[in-house]
This record gives sequence, structure tokens and C-alpha cells, in this order.
Amino acid sequence: MSNHEQLSLFDFNNSEPSPPSVSSNFNRDLIPTDAKIEIPVGTYQTLEEISNHCNHCYRCELGQNRTHAVIGRGHLQAPIMIVGEAPGQNEDEQGLPFVGRSGQLLEKILESVGLSTDQEVYISNAIRCRPPNNRTPTPQEMEACKPYLLEQIRLVNPKIILLTGATAVKSILGDKRGITKIRGQWMEWEGRLCMPIFHPAYLLRNPSRETGSPKWLMWQDIQAVRDKLNELISL
Ligand code: URA
Repeated sequence: MSNHEQLSLFDFNNSEPSPPSVSSNFNRDLIPTDAKIEIPVGTYQTLEEISNHCNHCYRCELGQNRTHAVIGRGHLQAPIMIVGEAPGQNEDEQGLPFVGRSGQLLEKILESVGLSTDQEVYISNAIRCRPPNNRTPTPQEMEACKPYLLEQIRLVNPKIILLTGATAVKSILGDKRGITKIRGQWMEWEGRLCMPIFHPAYLLRNPSRETGSPKWLMWQDIQAVRDKLNELISL
């Protein structure tokens, strides 16, 4: 396949993932409704328990306006986890991350190197509830939601974490450098390999595929991710 054909795989289509299953089987007394309440490592045994708590969580004000808390989708033991920024309107309505145009592009990018949410990838966000007008999450909102993200990472146990955009990078690595400076670099965090990559929304705003363009750089990065996964699998 030529480089041009491979990059054209990054164009989005209209396929949609299926909605999450919902359960009401959980202990409401254990829900941490305030950011001052700690959520220690090991609190949750399953992602479904996290989902149940998040849908009743008021650790920050975003809980007041949500339709659904957005936890994650993809393979529950995926070797690659992708962390985005925050749910948008489509995600809030469906209770699933990356189901709008950004998500469709993300799926295409993964597919271009033979990765999919059916097998190798699990997708989540820095925060679980939609900020008003899709504004950037505040540091307080990210801090309140971080224990859920850490528990998700612990349970999925990915070898590789891809951080899409500066908010995801700040949330996990605390690194405030711009994404253009650090994208494509492998960084070790808590025994896992992390790579900051561009957010798909940024690629939608910058559609050029010229050498050196954001889309072209993403193509380099996703190939490096595929190579690294192959290397880890063969160890
Ligand atoms: N953008 C994100 O960062 N996350 C989503 O879930 C959707 C769009």
C-alpha cells in the first residue's frame, strides 16, 4: 500500500459502535460523591463498578448536567489504552467515548495499522462528564476524576497508553509542554509506555497530508505504536 493510500485510511466514515450495558447492581453507600473523599487504588473490581459510581458521582459540578458518565469502550484487557480529553455532546448522549467525528477518525487511524477496539485498544478520557460548551476541563475537574481513570488503567492493565492532546498529557504525566513539542516520544509512567499524540479533532481541523503536516506526523506515530506493540508481543 502506498503512503497516500495508507493516509487516506485516516478519512472518517459513519460506522458507530454499540452502546454500553447498564447495571444497577451496586452499593450506593460506597459512592464517593465529593472530591474530598479518597478513592484508594484497588477500590473497584470491575469497570462496570466504576461506571455505576461515575453515573452517580458529584465529585465536581459536571455531574449536574450529564446525561451519561462516559467511562470507556473497547477490549477490556487491551494492550493499548487511549486517553482523550472529555466527552462531547455525542458521547454524553450515548455514554461512550469518541463516537462523534473525532472518534470516527481515531478508528480509521487505528485501522490503518491493523488495530481495533475489538482486540487491541480500549478508549477512555481524562474526565467522565461533558464540560459545558465543550470547554477544556479545569484542573479541579481533572483531579476529581483522576482516581477513576487510574482505576480503569489498573483494571485494563495496558502496556501502552496513548495520550491524545495536551489535556490527556497533563492528566497522566503532569507535563505542561505543548503537544507539538512532545508528540511521538515514548515516556515511561508507572511501568507503562506512554506516547503523547495529536488529538483527532486537531487533525480534522488540519486535513493536509503533506510531509510534516499533523496528519503525516500522526501516521509516523501510529506506525511507531504498531511496531512497539509487535515488539512487546514477541518478547
Ligand atoms: N474528544 C475527546 O477527547 N473525547 C471524547 O470522548 C470525544 C471527543
